[in-house]
Order: sequence, then C-alpha cells, then structure tokens
Amino acid sequence: MGPERLRSPARTALAGREESEWRGLDPASKLEPSAADRVARLRKCSTLPRRGQGIAHVKHPTSSPTDRRAFLRALAGAGGAAALAPALGRYEALAHEIASLQGGAWSAPALRERYLLAADVSYLNHASIGTVPKAVHEAHVAYLRLCESNPWLYMWGGAWEEPRERVRAAVAGVLGTSPDRVTLTHNTTEGFSMVAAGLDLGPRDEVLFSSFNHPGASVCWEHHAARRGYRVRRFALAATDAPGWSADDLVRLHVEQIRPETRVLVVPHVDNIVGVRLPLERLVRAARDAGVAWVLVDGAQSAGMIPVDVDLSGVDGFSTSPHKWLQAPKGLGALVLTPDLRARVHPTWVTWGQERWAGTARALEDYGTRNLPELMALEDAIAFQRALGVDAKERHYRALRDHLRARVEASPALAWGSPTSWDLGASLCSIRVRGRPAADVSAELYERFGTVVRPFDLGGVQALRVSPNVMNDRAEIDRFVEHVEALL
Ligand SMILES: Cc1ncc(COP(=O)(O)O)c(C=O)c1O
Repeated sequence: MGPERLRSPARTALAGREESEWRGLDPASKLEPSAADRVARLRKCSTLPRRGQGIAHVKHPTSSPTDRRAFLRALAGAGGAAALAPALGRYEALAHEIASLQGGAWSAPALRERYLLAADVSYLNHASIGTVPKAVHEAHVAYLRLCESNPWLYMWGGAWEEPRERVRAAVAGVLGTSPDRVTLTHNTTEGFSMVAAGLDLGPRDEVLFSSFNHPGASVCWEHHAARRGYRVRRFALAATDAPGWSADDLVRLHVEQIRPETRVLVVPHVDNIVGVRLPLERLVRAARDAGVAWVLVDGAQSAGMIPVDVDLSGVDGFSTSPHKWLQAPKGLGALVLTPDLRARVHPTWVTWGQERWAGTARALEDYGTRNLPELMALEDAIAFQRALGVDAKERHYRALRDHLRARVEASPALAWGSPTSWDLGASLCSIRVRGRPAADVSAELYERFGTVVRPFDLGGVQALRVSPNVMNDRAEIDRFVEHVEALL
C-alpha cells in the first residue's frame, strides 16, 4: 500500500488537465467570473474593520514595551478581539447557504452547483482529498483579503485569537471531545508524527499496527524506532476478507496480535483501502484488557463522514484531516489527546511564548507564523457540514452505497470488496474488477469519462475504490458502473 496517489498514467492525465486549465490565466482570473463577483459582493457586505471602527483605531504598538502594554490596554478597552467579531461573523453568502441547507433540505444535483468541481469531472474520490464548497472557499478568500489588509493585526495583534478558539470549539464539537483536548494541526500525518516524536518509548516497548494502517500513521513510528530502541510490528490483514468480517472478527484479529510488550496500538477508524469501520469502543476495551497502554486512532476517513465520539470511544489519541470529509481548505488537521497522554508528549514545535500554553493542547500547536486565514475557514467548513446534517448525510451515503452494491452484484464483471453492513462500512467502497489492472481501468476512466477513482492492487486482486460524497447521485454511480463494464 502506498500513499494516496494515482498511478502514473492517470497522474499524467490529471497533471496535463490541470496545466491546460490554468495555463495563461493570471491568479485573479482563476476564479470563474461569477465566483469573483460573489467575492466582491461578499467583501462589500462583510464588516471589515476600518480605521476609526472596531479596534482598527487603536494605535499599533511600537517596539517599546510601555507602548505595547498601552496598546494591549487600549485593545482590551475597545472590546479586544470581540470588537472584531463582526469581521468574522458568517459572511452573507455562507449564512444564506447554511439557511437554505438546514434540516437536510438538499438534493445531490442541486448541491453540486454549490461546489467548484469541473463540469466534465465525475469526482468519486473524496477519500483521497475533499472538495471545498464555494461558500466556504469564498469565506476563506475573504479571510485572506482581510489578513492582507493589516497582516500584523491578524497574525500577531490578537485579532484572531478569540476566533481561533471558536475554531477549536467547533472541531471539538465534531469530534465529540472538549476544546481543551484539541490541538490544531495541518493533517493526520502531522498529528501522528508529533506523538511518535514526543512520546518516550524504550527498548521494552512495542508499537503495533496492521497492514491497514495508512503510511501517514505508520512511517513516523518506524522512523524513530531504531534510534529509540523500541520495536514496531506490523501484522497482515487480508483486504480480500473484508466482505466476510463481523465486529467480533475485527476485535479478535487485532487483540490476538497484542503481546506483553505492546504499549501502543494504532488503528484507522475507517481504513483507506476497503473502508472497514472499526468498532472503536469494543476494540479499546479489549486492547486495554490485553495490556495496551495507548490506543491511537487515525480518523482521516471518518471525521465528517460518520459520527465520531472520541471521548465516548475511550481512545487515547485521534488524529484527523478536515480537508477530506469536512471539506475544509487543504492543510488543516486536528489532534485530540487525553490529558494523560498529552502530558507525556514532548512538543515537536518549540517557540517563544509557549510557556503560557503549558498544560494545554495548544502547547503542542504553535510554531511561529501560520496560515490563519485558512484556519479561520475551518469553522465555516464545519458550519456548512452541520447545515447539511449528520443524519441526512449518513442517509445519502448509505443509499448511494446500497445502490452501488446492488449494481456491482448484478454485474458479472465486478465484485463487491467492502464490508456488507453499513455499520462496519463507510462511503468508501472497494469494487473488484476482472481482466485488467485496476490502474489501467482508472486511468482510462479518467481520460475518457473524467471519472476520478483510486485503483488498488490487493495482492493480485484488482480493485477500484469509489468514495462518493453529498453532491454525487445515483445517476453518477450508474454511469460509473456502465463505464467500467465497457472498459473490461
Ligand atoms: C486513513 C488515512 N490516514 C492518513 C492519511 C494521510 O492524510 P494527510 O495527508 O491529510 O495527513 C490518509 C490520506 O489519504 C488516509 O486515507
């Protein structure tokens, strides 16, 4: 299993397409005109702080500490960050979108218009990387512009301190934990890298994971093992057995691998190969009974797609990538650690002023200048997903999956390769193809029909991974099946 990447023919085709789309265009015109108009309107209706309003009338600090203190007092007098709250209030476009989606009143075809996907692309690869709703993208652009209107204010002047904590609270809400446990990272890989780099493990310790573990949650442990003297053991799970697994099987397959020296067990909540959803609560209990100290979960494919309750599941750590199923801008992540585990993880990033975050999840987070406009947009991405509705999304994923499975099972050329029950599965489905390498089929699917799926070679069994989202509909699934059948 390699990292998420299409094999070379498809990759070349994708690269070619991106290049021809953008060639000759200046950055401003990369937005379609209507979207550019909307950004202009959005900027007009958003309450950007102006001189003489909010805190922008406060004189900026100079280098002297006295002036700086005076500035901070003045800032507090002006209502501090709260005075800027209107600048980060829901932009009108986003508020409108959210109001119209509320209560699950959406349909996939109508929703597709609210995304930036190219008209000639059938995007069925949300497990590799998500796509951002237009309204969230526009909010992101507005934050970028706002930041450039006074970079110091937004980066170091404290204007985005309170909103940053709102982002943390929104993430905590999605993950079923409290904000004080959430470290805002850049992706799942970074979260695992931070824990592997910062946790003291020694020669008597073992880190255990299966062949279903993604490299983003595995390589970091292997990297540090030799120098620190601990052992990493990877056991094989046969992806081709997935359709027959029960919850009992999944717990047993993991627990029977635990040895007295196993201190850390790392598992994907939903794996990226065939989309098996692990029964986390049961697995954590059984792993603890077997002597594991910490169970760490890779939630890259679950957060935003299925309900997640980190605290209830009893896991010690959970790392995720909101740029997949939460449809946030790329390069946003979250790491949740129990206070006990966090106290044992030395920070990877060390920088000035960190003392004030000692003992909090933020102590692991600050590393100097960061892309705050992007971080601000995470709250909007979450608001958009909430407006779609957890239940409505789940109904949609489930219905599409049932439809895909029925079509696959009726086809002599195809076979279903994921768990059969929704409770053990996800909107991430493995479709076995016969007669041709899956990589060739996926490259041709893209070149001829604009369909984006990911190929897998499962030890000789050829499979296409299909991961639909809210804007995909049954007709798109039907076309996918017909196109694959035509290529085999
Ligand atoms: C299960 C799983 N874990 C981790 C990752 C890595 O994600 P990121 O690059 O956002 O860290 C992926 C990416 O596809 C994944 O599917």
